[in-house]
Amino acid sequence: MTQSRLPYSINMRLRASQIEAECDKSLRRLQVDTIDLFYAHCDDRQTPLEETLGAFDSLVKAGKVRYVGASNYLAWRLAEADAVSQTHDLVSYCCIQQRYTYLRPVPGASFSPQVAANDDLLDFCRSREMTMLAYSPLLTGAYTRSDREFMQQYQGPDSDACIEALRQVSVELNATPNQVVYAWMWRHTPPVIPILGVSTSAQLSENLGALELVLTDDQVSRLNHPTAY
Ligand SMILES: NC(=O)c1ccc[n+]([C@@H]2O[C@H](COP(=O)([O-])OP(=O)(O)OC[C@H]3O[C@@H](n4cnc5c(N)ncnc54)[C@H](OP(=O)(O)O)[C@@H]3O)[C@@H](O)[C@H]2O)c1
Repeated sequence: MTQSRLPYSINMRLRASQIEAECDKSLRRLQVDTIDLFYAHCDDRQTPLEETLGAFDSLVKAGKVRYVGASNYLAWRLAEADAVSQTHDLVSYCCIQQRYTYLRPVPGASFSPQVAANDDLLDFCRSREMTMLAYSPLLTGAYTRSDREFMQQYQGPDSDACIEALRQVSVELNATPNQVVYAWMWRHTPPVIPILGVSTSAQLSENLGALELVLTDDQVSRLNHPTAY
């Protein structure tokens, strides 16, 4: 469950020494021998990819980590990282965790140091069959809560039409807009796995209720192209 907005310090670099030290700290905190999935939290263009991926590869070979994922990377940087992994026979990123929700950010919107998923990234994931995970999928509850506002970056020319399409589909399915956002993500091509963030059991059971939803092709089309209807 979400305890606070930033329960950790963001380490923006991916030097080998930092990766090794942070992995050991995580193993101690989690009290486990192996971390299933260890993430590069943000891209670091100052450290060579060979160094970063070499460090992750050593952790996998040492049995400290099973899989390595990336977060906040642009598609072309993921492609570069993959080429480095192939060339040097190093572990490769198995997934990408990016800011993604139903509402589209306005063109040029910045969330720095966070990176929002864009069409290039979705295309990359589709063609490489790479798993994409979405963080902040519910925009901290703004789809349903009057005490939460949509960030300025999401207030574009089609956002009202998107919200209206979401409302209509929710009514048709007797579901909440939050549930429809999740269900829309896994009907997506490529499918996107939303990362659940909750602070109450009521939120958790509402959000898990999305697993029961089946969107029709027509509903997906209206959600994807709300201004065409
Ligand atoms: N890789 C990265 O850079 C990055 C960045 C951000 C987050 N993350 C990860 O992604 C996870 C999810 O991100 P997020 O917390 O921003 O996700 P989110 O889905 O946008 O927001 C989760 C928050 O929305 C509210 N909420 C959830 N379900 C609700 C419901 N049914 N009704 C009303 N309000 C509801 C809760 O707020 P309240 O707790 O205030 O009630 C909850 O804490 C985080 O826990 C973190 O692990 C990663």
